Formats: sequence, C-alpha cells, structure tokens
Amino acid sequence: MAIEWTQDLATGINWQDNQHKELFVKINSLIEAMKTGKGKEEIVKLFKFLDDYTVFHFGNEQKAMEKFNYNDYSSHKSQHQKFISNLSDLKKQLETAVVPVAVVIKAQSMVVDWLKNHISKVDKVLGAFLRTKT
Ligand SMILES: [Fe+2]
Repeated sequence: MAIEWTQDLATGINWQDNQHKELFVKINSLIEAMKTGKGKEEIVKLFKFLDDYTVFHFGNEQKAMEKFNYNDYSSHKSQHQKFISNLSDLKKQLETAVVPVAVVIKAQSMVVDWLKNHISKVDKVLGAFLRTKT
C-alpha cells in the first residue's frame, strides 16, 4: 500500500507542498524496495536519500519559521527531530533484522502515520501562517 499525497494535505504553500509530495515519492520507493526484497545496498541507498531529503525539507520549514518568528517553532522543530531519530532507529533495526518484513510493517506505520499526522496538523497550521506573510 503506497502512501499517497492528497489535496487535503495541502498547506497552500507551493514549496512546502512540493517537498511533501517528493517526500512521499521517496518513502514509496523505500517501502517498495523493502517489500520486494531489493538488495540491502539499494535499500541503504534509498534510506540515505530519504535522510538527506528530510533534513533538507525540515531545514526549509525551520528557516521559514525562524524568519517570521513563528511562535510554535520549538514544538514543531522537536517533532521534526523525533522523526529524524525514528528514521535512524529504523535504519539500525533493518540492518540487524532477523525478520525484515516486521521492520517493513513498522516502517510503514511509523513513517506514513507520522507524516500524514504531522502534515495535516502542524504543517497546515504553519502553511496558513506563512500565507499571511507572503
Ligand atoms: Fe513540519
């Protein structure tokens, strides 16, 4: 089951929406690679890609929040940090997994649920705020 970006996740800020869509694409490739039993090398490569993109995207949101003195900055940022640390735990678990499929299921619920929840709650609020500034 692929993760899908839907219009109800739109924040109305173009760069933010485009980056969210790109994140979904990257997550789908990763989950797909894990499910179809792609080689470890391929999975590690995709993880790295997702890692980098996450840092890039969260960095952009954080810069925008700082620029406009967003008052929910610290709690929003700590949600980002939580995701980054979950992702790195997942990577470690995958490396040592006896039953990789269990990690795939966990990855799916952790990454997908977190992202949908984060976007539909805090990112949409941020987007609405940014729309008043630009
Ligand atoms: Fe965010």
